[in-house]
Amino acid sequence: MAIVKIIDENRTVTDRQSVAEYLMARGVRCEHWTPAHPVEADSPAEEILKAYAREIERLKALGGYVTADVIDVNAQTPGLDSMLAKFNREHWHEEDEVRFIIHGHGLFHIRPEESRVVPIEVEAGDLILLPKGMWHWFDLCADRQIRAIRLFQNSSGWTPYYTESGVDRNFQPMCFGPSYIAPQV
Ligand code: LAC
Ligand code: NI
Repeated sequence: MAIVKIIDENRTVTDRQSVAEYLMARGVRCEHWTPAHPVEADSPAEEILKAYAREIERLKALGGYVTADVIDVNAQTPGLDSMLAKFNREHWHEEDEVRFIIHGHGLFHIRPEESRVVPIEVEAGDLILLPKGMWHWFDLCADRQIRAIRLFQNSSGWTPYYTESGVDRNFQPMCFGPSYIAPQV
């Protein structure tokens, strides 16, 4: 399940319901789907989308999403660093950002209020739904891989609008979950 850091209280929320409630109060839907479908994490994208077809339809009905795809990011991805450089600066989108994690880990930082940043670490089985317009940025964890189903309201694709606030530079792109893997030195 996703875990959340509450920075000013110096604590981490790991309990599934508390995570969901804390985020929901800030406009972010977070769910953990168990059991996950028995589809291998490295199956072709079409098989993943087929296995999760029912959940995808539910989300489409809920949020008016029209397309779904599977994004794969790992150390072998050509141009990984320049791709990550697009995600790891604070930005927002004109549509919801919806991700269901199939494999790997990721670190979202959201800024639902001017002066509050909330780090959220996600893992396989987690659905996260950031509402359109929410300021956020994203980093990989030390495993440097993530595979996720994405849903879009607009098939024209992914457009980030950068806030250029510089707030992201005040936060270490460091995952903090129990599955945290220390970088090799
Ligand atoms: C995105 C995330 C990773 O915009 O913020 O795709
Ligand atoms: Ni984004």
